[in-house]
Amino acid sequence: MSADLATRPETAPVATGAPLLEVRGLRVAVPGADGPVDAVHGVDLRVGRGEALGLVGESGSGKTLTCRAVLGVLPGRCTVAGGTIDLDGTDLATLSPRAWRDVHAVRIGAVFQDPASYLNPAQTVGRQLAEVLRVKTGLGRRAARARALELFATVGLKRPEVVFDRIAAHLSGGMQQRVMLAIAISCDPQLLIADEPTTALDVKTQAEIVRLLRELRERIGLAILFVSHDLAVVTELCDRIAVFRDGRIVEEAPTAELLAGRAEHPYTRSLLRAAGLETTTPEDDRVA
Ligand SMILES: Nc1ncnc2c1ncn2[C@@H]1O[C@H](COP(=O)(O)OP(=O)(O)O)[C@@H](O)[C@H]1O
Ligand SMILES: [Mg+2]
Repeated sequence: MSADLATRPETAPVATGAPLLEVRGLRVAVPGADGPVDAVHGVDLRVGRGEALGLVGESGSGKTLTCRAVLGVLPGRCTVAGGTIDLDGTDLATLSPRAWRDVHAVRIGAVFQDPASYLNPAQTVGRQLAEVLRVKTGLGRRAARARALELFATVGLKRPEVVFDRIAAHLSGGMQQRVMLAIAISCDPQLLIADEPTTALDVKTQAEIVRLLRELRERIGLAILFVSHDLAVVTELCDRIAVFRDGRIVEEAPTAELLAGRAEHPYTRSLLRAAGLETTTPEDDRVA
């Protein structure tokens, strides 16, 4: 390395361009009638620090399996069949399941479509968050409660001390998702994986959650891997978009490029059109 670079350490991460998350050649196998078959066929992804990457594509195209592979929590009998998953210099796929789960809880936060199913129905949401803080960050009871209230305020929950004592069933879907986000960011993760986090919500609440994610990104420098079948929502949050089809990425491009009508793959163009986002391209203007 040149002396010049060595004396400017703050520029090093940019100079090396090392992404926060780098997935290469990821293959995920699912159980088939005659044994395991690949459902994700060699996916490459990069998410930079503080960057938001969107994954779009029709249902069954492999978005969720890809996210769950990164989190180390694939559903039963599904396995990582190949590839590397590098988070800030650690190849997650070589970790023990237990070590991987610890990464999931602390360095990567996650939210999914159905927050209620991840919350204990019998325990107040405040106690659940405080419990995570006590176990994962070693805070004492009072400090954990105080931090939980702070986190509830951070995710836009009004009257945090009232929410603290509620069980999930007594909160709206949007509030439940905010609670899940508070849990997801509670250990200061570098990366948030959000798999269809707004799909079950009404349009107004969906917009609020997207705004919140954008704020979290700006305020705490969170990188986000955001999955949605709704391309319009993805363009509001993400810098780049990867288009999934049949377990493969068929196109990946900066959001601005796609919105400027520079999508290359016909499938991407059909998604843009379906979302009412496609601008006219020279080809469309051509008279047959
Ligand atoms: N638990 C599972 N067992 C068997 N096949 C699965 C399982 N989960 C997903 N698959 C299959 O893998 C493919 C990709 O699924 P998924 O990643 O959930 O798609 P997406 O999130 O894009 O809708 C689909 O064909 C689906 O049927
Ligand atoms: Mg899915």
